[in-house]
Amino acid sequence: MKEETKLIQNILSDPLTGAISTPIYQTSTYIQKAPGVHKGFDYTRTNNPTRKILENLITSLEYGYASLAFSSGLAAVDAVLKLLECGDEIVAVDDIYGGTFRLLNLYKKLGIHTKFIDTTNVEECINVISKKTKLVWLETPTNPTLKVSDIEDISIKSKNKNPKLLVVVDNTFASPAIQNPLKLHADIVIHSATKYLAGHSDVLAGLATVKNPDLYEKLKYIQNATGGVLSPIDCWLTIRGSQTLYLRVKKQSKNAFRIASFLEKKKNIDKIYYPGLPYHKNHLIAIKQQRYFGGIVSFSMKNDKIESAKKIVTSTKFFKLAESLGGTKSLICHPATMTHKSTPKEIRIKSGIQDSLIRLSIGIENIEDLIEDIDQALK
Ligand SMILES: Cc1ncc(COP(=O)(O)O)c(C=O)c1O
Repeated sequence: MKEETKLIQNILSDPLTGAISTPIYQTSTYIQKAPGVHKGFDYTRTNNPTRKILENLITSLEYGYASLAFSSGLAAVDAVLKLLECGDEIVAVDDIYGGTFRLLNLYKKLGIHTKFIDTTNVEECINVISKKTKLVWLETPTNPTLKVSDIEDISIKSKNKNPKLLVVVDNTFASPAIQNPLKLHADIVIHSATKYLAGHSDVLAGLATVKNPDLYEKLKYIQNATGGVLSPIDCWLTIRGSQTLYLRVKKQSKNAFRIASFLEKKKNIDKIYYPGLPYHKNHLIAIKQQRYFGGIVSFSMKNDKIESAKKIVTSTKFFKLAESLGGTKSLICHPATMTHKSTPKEIRIKSGIQDSLIRLSIGIENIEDLIEDIDQALK
C-alpha cells in the first residue's frame, strides 16, 4: 500500500457492528471471565481498544515496531526521559521546544544533564558525545527558525561513537507526511499530535513510536506506571483528524511556499526562515530528507522592534493570533512575547529569535486571501 492508502485503511472499522467509524471505547475497565482471563484488555490506563487503533496507525505511518499514545506531547517526551538514570547525559538541539527545555531543566535536579548544541553542525554534535551520552535529542525543523538537522548522518555517526545511545527525533513540525526518522536510523519518534497529526486545533495528544520490542516494553512499563495516557475520546479525535494528514500537509506546504516567496518581495522584511528557499542554510538537507518543506514560515522586520511586530500580529484578519501550530486555520504568533517570553533575551537573540520575529502557521485557506491578509498587515 502507498502511504495515503495505508493511512486510511489502517483506521479500522468496527468488526462487531460494521460501523465504518472507529468506536470510542469509553470505558475504564473490562469484564473478565475468570481472574486474569480477558480479551486482551483489563484496565484503560494499561490498554484501550480505541487507543490501540491510534497507536497502530502511527506505528504504520512512522515505520516503527509499536507506539504509545499520551495525554500530551510533553507527556510523551517525559516518558522517554524516564528511560535515563542519574549520571546519564543528553545531547540536544539548542533551539529545542521551550516546554522540552523546561522539562530537561527539571531532570537536571535528578542528575541527568543536557548539553545543548547546534545539531545542524554534525561534527560539533558528534564531538560532544561521550560514554555518558544516552540520548541525542533532535527536533527538525526547529521552532521558530526552522533549522534542519541531518537525521541520517547524525544517527549513524553518533552510534558509531557510542553504540549504546538512542537517537530521538521530535517530528512534530514535519509530521510523518514529510519525513520518517526511523527510516533514517533514529530509534524513537515523538509527536505532539496536538499539531499536524490531529490537525484541527481541538485536542492535546502525544505519541511515541519506537523501533524495537525492548524499547517498547520499557516505555509501556513507564506509561502504565505513570499514567499519562490519552483518553478514548481524544484518541478518536486524533484518529479522525489524522485521516486528512497528507492532504493538509501538501496544501499547507504549497501555501507556505507561496507566502515565503511573497515575503521575499517586501522591502520592510529582513530575514525569512523557510527550508524551501534556496538560500535557507539547511535547504539541501531539507531536500534530502523531507518530502515537502512544511507549513511554517517565520520572518523578521528591518525595523526590529517588538512594537512593530506586535502591530503586525494584531492587524491580520484571517491569521488568528494564537500559540500552537499545524491546524487547518492559519495562526500568527510573536515568539519574543509569546512562546519564548520566558527565554532570557541574550539566549533568545543568540538562537535567532529577534525582537520582531513573527511565526506563521499556514492553514488550508485560499492562498490569495492569506497573501492579501499579510500584505495589508505589513502595510
Ligand atoms: C516541537 C514540539 N514538541 C513538543 C511539544 C509539546 O506538545 P504538547 O503541547 O502537546 O504537550 C510542542 C508543543 O508546542 C512542540 O512544538
